[in-house]
Amino acid sequence: MSLALVTGATSGLGLTFARTLAARGDDLVLVARDEARLDALATELRARGRTVHVVPADLSTRDGVARVVDAVHEHRIDLLVNNAGSSIGKFFGDTDIADEDSQLDLMVKAPMDLMAAALDVMRPRRSGRILNVASVAAFTPRGTYSAHKAWIVNLSRWMNIQFAPEGIVTTVLCPGFVRTEFHQRMGVDPSDVPGWMWTTTDQQVRGALRDLEKGKAVSVPTVRYKVLTTVAQYAPAGIVAAVAKRGRKVAE
Ligand SMILES: NC(=O)c1ccc[n+]([C@@H]2O[C@H](COP(=O)([O-])OP(=O)(O)OC[C@H]3O[C@@H](n4cnc5c(N)ncnc54)[C@H](OP(=O)(O)O)[C@@H]3O)[C@@H](O)[C@H]2O)c1
Repeated sequence: MSLALVTGATSGLGLTFARTLAARGDDLVLVARDEARLDALATELRARGRTVHVVPADLSTRDGVARVVDAVHEHRIDLLVNNAGSSIGKFFGDTDIADEDSQLDLMVKAPMDLMAAALDVMRPRRSGRILNVASVAAFTPRGTYSAHKAWIVNLSRWMNIQFAPEGIVTTVLCPGFVRTEFHQRMGVDPSDVPGWMWTTTDQQVRGALRDLEKGKAVSVPTVRYKVLTTVAQYAPAGIVAAVAKRGRKVAE
C-alpha cells in the first residue's frame, strides 16, 4: 500500500497521474485550487476503493504551500508528484513583475518546499519517490518558464544522485506538447503546432512512472521528443531558440 500526493490533480497530467496511481492501488492526497473539482475526483476514486484526502491550496501563496507541507508530514507520503504549473503567455520584459513573482513561487518555491517536506518523512525510513514535472522547454532558452523548468531538471538530477543511495528516487518528467487545459489557461492558440508534436497525458504519465520505477533521473517519453531534446542539448542555443519560437503563437 502506497500513498501518493499529486499537485495539480484537477486537470491534464495531474488528473491522469491521480487516476493511474489509483488504478494501480495507491491511496491519494489531491492538491489544487478548485475544491469542487477535487471533491468530484475524490468521490470517483473512493468509489474505486481508494482512501483519498483533499487539500485545496493555492501553491503560489505561502499559506497554501504551508498547508500542503503539513499534509506531507501528517500523511507520511510515499510518493510526491510535483505537477501543478502554468505559464503567463507573455515573455519576461513584457510581463507584470508581480505575475512573475507569483510564477516563481508556484514553479520553483512550492516544489522545493514540498521536496524538503518529502525528504523529512522519506529519509528516516530510507525509502520514497519524488516525481517532478518539468518540460522539454527546460532544454531551450525561452523566458522564465523554461528557466523554472531548467531549475527543476537540474535539482532533480542532483537529488537522484544524492538520495538514491538512501533509497529515495527522484525522476523529472519532461513532456513535449500535451493536450490539457494548459494552453487555453495561458491564453495561447496552439493551432500552429504540428499534429505530430502532440502527445497524450497517458503517454506522459505511463512513461514517467515506468522511468521512476527504473530509477531514471530524467524521463522524456516518446522517441520523437527523446531525439529533439538530445539535439537541443548539443545544438547552438541561438538555433534552438529560433526553432522553439516557431512552436506556438502568443495571443495577447
Ligand atoms: N500541456 C503541455 O503541453 C505541457 C508541456 C510540458 C510541461 N507541462 C507541465 O505539466 C504540468 C501540468 O500542466 P497541464 O498541462 O496538465 O496543465 P493543466 O491542465 O492546466 O493543469 C494544471 C494543474 O495545475 C493546477 N494549478 C495551477 N495553478 C495552481 C496553483 N497556483 N496552485 C495549485 N494548483 C495549481 C491546476 O488546478 P487548479 O486550477 O484547480 O488549481 C491544474 O490541476 C505543469 O507543470 C506544466 O508546466 C505541460
